[in-house]
Amino acid sequence: MAERRGRLRGAAWAACLGLCGVALALLAAVLVRAYVLRPPPGPRLWERGAALGFQLSARDRQELKEALRENQNTTALAEFGNYIQKVFPAVFSTKFIQHEIIGGYSHLFTVQGSDPQLMPYMLLAHMDVVPASQEGWHVPPFSAKELDGFIYGRGTVDNKNSAIGILQALEFLLRRDYRPRRSFYIGIGHDEEVSGHKGAMKIAALLKARGVKLSFLLDEGSVILDGFLAGIKKPVAVIAITEKGSITANFSVEKEQGHSSVPPKETSIGILAAALSRLEQNPMPNLFGHGPEIMILEHLASEFRFPLNLIMTNLWLFSPIVSRILEQKPSTNALVRTTTAITMFNAGIKSNVIPPSAKAIVNFRIHPSQKVEEVLEIVRNTIADDRVKIHLQDAFDPLPISPWDNHAFGVQIFRRTLLDVFPDVSSVAPGICIGNTDSRHFTNLTDAIYRFNPLVFKPDDLPRVHGLNERISIEGYEKQVEFLYQLIQNSDISKLPEPHINSHEL
Ligand SMILES: *[C@@H]1O[C@H](CO)[C@@H](O)[C@H](O)[C@H]1NC(C)=O
Ligand SMILES: *[C@@H]1O[C@H](CO)[C@@H](O)[C@H](O)[C@H]1NC(C)=O
Ligand SMILES: *[C@@H]1O[C@H](CO)[C@@H](O)[C@H](O)[C@H]1NC(C)=O
Ligand SMILES: [Zn+2]
Repeated sequence: MAERRGRLRGAAWAACLGLCGVALALLAAVLVRAYVLRPPPGPRLWERGAALGFQLSARDRQELKEALRENQNTTALAEFGNYIQKVFPAVFSTKFIQHEIIGGYSHLFTVQGSDPQLMPYMLLAHMDVVPASQEGWHVPPFSAKELDGFIYGRGTVDNKNSAIGILQALEFLLRRDYRPRRSFYIGIGHDEEVSGHKGAMKIAALLKARGVKLSFLLDEGSVILDGFLAGIKKPVAVIAITEKGSITANFSVEKEQGHSSVPPKETSIGILAAALSRLEQNPMPNLFGHGPEIMILEHLASEFRFPLNLIMTNLWLFSPIVSRILEQKPSTNALVRTTTAITMFNAGIKSNVIPPSAKAIVNFRIHPSQKVEEVLEIVRNTIADDRVKIHLQDAFDPLPISPWDNHAFGVQIFRRTLLDVFPDVSSVAPGICIGNTDSRHFTNLTDAIYRFNPLVFKPDDLPRVHGLNERISIEGYEKQVEFLYQLIQNSDISKLPEPHINSHEL
């Protein structure tokens, strides 16, 4: 290929290796098929919903902020239930809203719309958080301290902002005498961070038993990325349409116990360590272009500045080099392949005893174009040693890819609402979640599952999630509540307006 490079192309390659390396390496945890946001169908074509504006009084503003802050130190799950009853009185006293506690601590709200013909939708969030110790935080992690326009605390962006924000938006709407036309459900799980088996899974099972079908479901996940792509100035809203699968597997080797003075040629530790080393030395294949991850670059292509736009509009030529660049950094490597992480290793009982067994745990996160079986096949072939036994602890395939076109009701409602609330956002793009969410338990209720939080993230914000000094800006939280407030109203239209004749795929 080298000899065919002209001068311009040479410059583009150099630029790709330099600029694009920086740009792509920053590309967050969530990418994929992206489409330039076309002007939406004219507002005239949309039926008007209730159209209550989001003007907040100084008192509303104060209330909105304090409701999130005071929830911060509500660490006990049962306390959360009492807390929301206290701060959202309209939600709990409205006749057309039914509240149920599921699995001991999770919450399900059924908001009955006035038109039973319209298929309901669902908003999902979780109240549990990952632990945080004081060390390294500017302020105690459960203090909800306010500093320079931010509220600091564990859970402020994952995911108490949604749990409280959804109820806050509904509370404001109810106080303005709003009654939805379209029914909807609100689910607030209590064990998302440890798989959601007691909360979200039970909510999903209950709704399925009631025969519920959803027009779409919105959960946490990706965000509005600002400054992640060096060649793009304006923020890009990334809505994840799938999430990676996962395998957690135990690897073990059993051998005769013996004395270290007469060792066998290989011990259980040596055999297992060699096997795991082969797994690390032979990563799973780079699948850039086989899943929905390539399209974010293709469809944002025209938004990149020269010369990145050249590269992105010519991925047919540049995709090998782009895929190589993506695999350089862990954060983008996770988008292009099934990842392999050896997370635990235990062996040995005494310094002079041949170890009877060695055990390890490996966590794989599966690329959207692969399945559990396919990954296990590669693992067995790579290890190529029958003495290493593999037992699955937990395994699931990548989640189905949700619809993303002109007829995808949820997507069009998100676009419309983003336009209403975030005029600076230039594009709405479909992405991949590399982590998992509670929404994966709802695949029997709808094929339209989307993972998105309407928060603007700068590169500095990502490591705060599950990390130190997690925080939310007060303005950003208010925007999130406004987004939810308008989303609920926008969802009241009975059907989408006809797309423009010449508007191709969104
Ligand atoms: C919880 O946080 C709020 C806001 O910072 C504070 O007013 C309240 O006293 C705290 N409560 C407890 C029990 O720490
Ligand atoms: C895998 O290992 C973990 C930790 O040692 C253990 O708790 C679990 O029971 C094992 N599971 C299987 C299927 O072997
Ligand atoms: C969907 O329903 C099938 C059949 O009842 C069940 O086996 C499966 O576990 C359900 N899926 C989820 C994600 O709950
Ligand atoms: Zn979360």
